[in-house]
Amino acid sequence: MSNITFTMIKPTAVANGHTGAILQKINEGGFRIVALKKLRLSKQEAETFYAVHKERPFYGELTDFMSSGAIIAAVLERNNAVSDYRKLIGATNPADAEKGTIRNLFATDIQANAVHGSDSDENAIIESNFFFSEKERF
Ligand code: RTP
Ligand code: MG
Repeated sequence: MSNITFTMIKPTAVANGHTGAILQKINEGGFRIVALKKLRLSKQEAETFYAVHKERPFYGELTDFMSSGAIIAAVLERNNAVSDYRKLIGATNPADAEKGTIRNLFATDIQANAVHGSDSDENAIIESNFFFSEKERF
């Protein structure tokens, strides 16, 4: 039923001027942009978004990082969106990300790994709803 995924371009990649290049990779990957915005998360919003990771040792650092500057949030549409987008972005640790993937090209380290991608259809819907109303999707 779902053919959407949700992505964020993370603060370091935005600050380093990679937004345009990453959106181009997304387009070339055959994804249609359904919704798009630039914003800064509060620490509390980052904690809510990443609540699934609250027991992990990196939760505090991750939510500090994700609220440290502007991000780009987007809903993307394509057949098999969730798993094909995770292929396009590459492994969480850019050291393990395949050549040509977004994380291989634009990530700095495991935390500042350029982009987020939903890990399931269910989370893609939850995450898209966290950022976008129906009126913001086309
Ligand atoms: P994402 O949710 O951002 O798309 O990344 P992912 O599924 O590939 O990785 P996940 O396990 O969900 O981790 C979420 C984000 O937490 C940061 N992280 N830091 N310091 C560490 O060991 C560590 N591990 C993960 C990364 O920013 C990762 O994308
Ligand atoms: Mg994840």
